[in-house]
Amino acid sequence: MTVLKNDKKSPNVVWHESQVTRDMRESQNGHRGAVLWFTGLSGAGKSTLANAVEARLHAMGVHTFVIDGDNVRHGLCADLGFSDADRVENIRRVAEVAGLFVQAGILTLTAFISPFRADRTQARKLLGNAFVEIHCDTSLDVCESRDVKGLYKRARAGEITAFTGISSPYEPPEHAEIVVQTGSQTIAQCVDEIMQWLVAQGMIHTEGEV
Ligand SMILES: Nc1ncnc2c1ncn2[C@@H]1O[C@H](COP(=O)(O)OP(=O)(O)OP(=O)(O)O)[C@@H](O)[C@H]1O
Ligand SMILES: [Mg+2]
Repeated sequence: MTVLKNDKKSPNVVWHESQVTRDMRESQNGHRGAVLWFTGLSGAGKSTLANAVEARLHAMGVHTFVIDGDNVRHGLCADLGFSDADRVENIRRVAEVAGLFVQAGILTLTAFISPFRADRTQARKLLGNAFVEIHCDTSLDVCESRDVKGLYKRARAGEITAFTGISSPYEPPEHAEIVVQTGSQTIAQCVDEIMQWLVAQGMIHTEGEV
């Protein structure tokens, strides 16, 4: 993974290399650090799948953590709203934090709408081959009919501005590593598909033998 060391305001900060390296952490953990980056419309199933995949991985002894969009907006990104600029900054911060988790050798799962392709490309650039893009691919109709949080109804009523899919764009990935059809497949099918991909890539061993 590229560690971007140039984007800083002060010339007086100097990078300090860790004595315990990512390689050392990964070999102690018995698996690589990586980021499973779930993207898709609100209600597409990012949080549901990230948590379900994490539960399976955790049960295998994999070191995991879910970074969820709604959760970081309670703290790390509490100062950000949903303007284009704030969405860009939100994703930039999340990618940076996910990068720290990768350095810690953790299999990290992020659940953010992350609607802009350029932001995800930036995250991919930062995280290198640790970045695994998972598109939760579902139509707006399905998401709107689920309306898990009641937000679509409010967006249609004009109570929420810049709502992704309605008044703000969602740019689907063009080359996602994994595409799960969360509108037509069950949660279990989607989880299996992701787990099989991880095994096929050698990122985890067959379930039960980490
Ligand atoms: N195959 C599937 N994968 C994921 N979720 C599914 C699937 N089929 C049905 N669902 C349901 O769809 C809903 C998805 O909601 P969830 O909160 O995970 O969406 P989200 O993408 O995290 O949305 P938001 O961006 O608003 O946080 C849940 O109620 C879940 O049970
Ligand atoms: Mg969610």
